Amino acid sequence: MVHRHTWAVSDFVVRPSGPLSGSVSIGGAKNSALKLMAACTLAEGRYVLRDVPQISDVHHMCGVLESLGMSTERREDGALVIERGPSVISDPPYELVERFRASTALMGPLVAATGRVRIALPGGDNFGTRPIDMHLRGLEALGAITEVGERDVQIVARRLIGARIELDYPSVGATENVLMAAVLAEGRTTICNAAREPEIADLAAFLNRMGAQVLGAGSSTIIVDGVDRLRAVEHTVIPDRIEAATVLAALGVAGGEITLRNVRHDHLGMLMEKLGHMGIRTSPEGDGLWAMATGRRSATNVATLPYPGLATDYLPLLVAVLTLADGTSFATENVFAGRFRYVSELAHMGADIGVDGHHMVIKGVKRLTGTAVEAVDIRAGAALVIAALGADGETVISGGDHLDRGYEGFVDKLRDIGVDVSRSLA
Ligand code: EPU
Repeated sequence: MVHRHTWAVSDFVVRPSGPLSGSVSIGGAKNSALKLMAACTLAEGRYVLRDVPQISDVHHMCGVLESLGMSTERREDGALVIERGPSVISDPPYELVERFRASTALMGPLVAATGRVRIALPGGDNFGTRPIDMHLRGLEALGAITEVGERDVQIVARRLIGARIELDYPSVGATENVLMAAVLAEGRTTICNAAREPEIADLAAFLNRMGAQVLGAGSSTIIVDGVDRLRAVEHTVIPDRIEAATVLAALGVAGGEITLRNVRHDHLGMLMEKLGHMGIRTSPEGDGLWAMATGRRSATNVATLPYPGLATDYLPLLVAVLTLADGTSFATENVFAGRFRYVSELAHMGADIGVDGHHMVIKGVKRLTGTAVEAVDIRAGAALVIAALGADGETVISGGDHLDRGYEGFVDKLRDIGVDVSRSLA
């Protein structure tokens, strides 16, 4: 059993803040932790995962693993202990899976571990349809037979056989599913045009610790030599680079001088470059990062790309900062064509943003105006909190449960560095 949190629907109330000061500790990466949890279905035994954030997506993934016959428990020191017996069920219930998209990461490991899986298809979300065609083609290349129904997909493979797989695009989710299936396949799998995100390298490190033979994760060619069996292990999740970006963007609007602890600056290269263009100074310090911002930010141009390019998850955060910058900025979203719904909410606060296809022209204004706005997804919600720091009056952000999906202790962490933020029941 996990500690059961209640994820109450509540608004975020933010008032203009700054300058920020003090230090904040960054938690483990959501988008790594969820995949490592899925990988625990691969082998029997007791896993200990450290730095798994206490967020609602993790809570939902615990529920799914329990529905498969596994157990999950938060230890007193915060580590998540997951136990998997000699067998695992491979039909996760529809109602548990459809709640969050990361559950698609169960396809690869469950088909590798049990020979079959039936799982709900991920719905679209607030930034458009989210197809899984590349995941399925990758698994088919390993010998699986896939059958897509109206609500779910069934994947069957008596045995998986290593193959050379060329992904059309370096999809994070497709790379992860193929990788988690290939570790137990017969022979060698080569994944070409693989995603290079740090979360992929973390997953490969976890799988290698379990006894897998994975080479090249973090580069665009991953080579996997299948093994007969894997074992349960302990692992510490990498720090969340998007949480770090969120705090740095807040500093960009509010100004001040802060220290971030538990940061991998080698994962933040392009972000630090762009923050530098805006006039935010950063410098690595031990296992963390020192950052300072004074005066007004400068306009700059930003475009998202797969890693090591600028992450799509950073864009709403950076756009929030640029709405208050001195000058005109151009921003382009190349990864999720429909990820723009936060723009109208920023405009509602007085931001001057023109949208043309997947491009934005942002004319910086001196101040925004606090008002009632809605968070439509995790990063959109974070962007509104950031913008509110530079708005006159109070901003009330509904849809706060989106932030609970991805940020642990968001309000407390921001309050610790001087942000005036609280929650009120909606
Ligand atoms: N795509 C396809 N077909 C596929 C797979 C992807 O067309 O089979 C398209 C997508 O529609 C999208 C692009 O390829 O346009 C990139 O998708 P990708 O597969 O790389 O992303 P993902 O695995 O679905 C993860 C993160 C996202 C993050 C992206 C990009 C998780 C749970 N989600 O999604 O994070 O934005 O990678 O880095 O790991 C978030 O944290 O809020 C979030 C959305």
